[in-house]
Amino acid sequence: MKFRYELLDPSKQKKPYDKVPPFGVGRTNHMFVVDYDDGQWHDPRIVPYGPFEIMPGAICLHYGQTLFEGGKAFIHPDGEMYAWRFNMNAERVNKSADVIMMANCPVDLQVEGCLRLLDVERAFCPTQPESSMYIRPAMIGVQDSLGIKSSNKYIYYIMLSPAGPYYADGFNKATTLLITSKYHRAVHGGTGNSKTGGNYAASLKPYYYAHDHGADQVLYLDAANEYIEEAGAMNHYHVLKDGTFIIPAFNDSILHSITSRTILELAGMGKVKARQERIRLKDFIADLKNGNIIEAGGLGTAAVVSPNGAYMFDDGTAPITVGDGKVGKYSRQLYELYTGMQTGKTPAPAGWAAKVEHYSK
Ligand SMILES: Cc1ncc(COP(=O)(O)O)c(C=O)c1O
Repeated sequence: MKFRYELLDPSKQKKPYDKVPPFGVGRTNHMFVVDYDDGQWHDPRIVPYGPFEIMPGAICLHYGQTLFEGGKAFIHPDGEMYAWRFNMNAERVNKSADVIMMANCPVDLQVEGCLRLLDVERAFCPTQPESSMYIRPAMIGVQDSLGIKSSNKYIYYIMLSPAGPYYADGFNKATTLLITSKYHRAVHGGTGNSKTGGNYAASLKPYYYAHDHGADQVLYLDAANEYIEEAGAMNHYHVLKDGTFIIPAFNDSILHSITSRTILELAGMGKVKARQERIRLKDFIADLKNGNIIEAGGLGTAAVVSPNGAYMFDDGTAPITVGDGKVGKYSRQLYELYTGMQTGKTPAPAGWAAKVEHYSK
């Protein structure tokens, strides 16, 4: 497909940031957009970042036919820019789309749109430690219809956000999770294994509830409160005494995290020890108390590895500290291995980092 460029005049473009903005705040000058109607994607284009014109009756505004993704790109020591496993984000767009009956967007079109946008905005890519160019694809159903049905029109777009560390204190801060049976993120047969907007709207109340109890996030359990599922908007992990990372086995109420899948692939190559299991909450708590579990936390694109120093409860049970409550050595080693590969300081398997070409515009 032919890509169209409608770039801002250089005199109207804002300049790259001197100081990297906190996560989620930064913007660049342009975005990638492609439209779907009549059963086809058309007019892929790089255009100034700005508002869409959609009708007040657009299905996304009423019935939540929206999805999003989160990826990252980095400048490597050779001075070139590389997108980290973005093909997996593009594939997951279509998995999420299937869950809420949206059109699929071809993976090649998404990847090329992303690389072309990154090329235009490469000067915005931060190089400071723990910083990245965060890539945010999204898709919205825009048919003007008040009937509850699947939209026949979509906008797929990618915006970029130059970003500092996910946590203001960087990797050194251990977080706290609240264990509660009051709220659940997802159920079997629902939409939990997708990045559809509704999942995140439903997570806001539990998130503020966790904060009210002095925790950073909720440790989500399955609907029967028996198994551990997710650590807020991350997969959960814990580490056994021999340094093995245990990640809850994927099911349809857990997002199949690209970070977790990458770590499991690294385990297959002998670079880390990691596996998946169904984890019973009561076994987890017993193993935290008896010291069989020495570290724990969350895994996800935004923070990569987010070590957890304590688990709190909302039923009067005393909090439990993980190890000494600080960032543990296995979590740190994994963080360093993973971010080393992302930033090109440590070799990564072929194809994991896609070079951003210098396209003619
Ligand atoms: C609910 C949830 N779980 C897990 C993750 C981690 O997934 P990934 O590693 O693909 O970013 C995310 C973030 O994308 C998420 O929103």
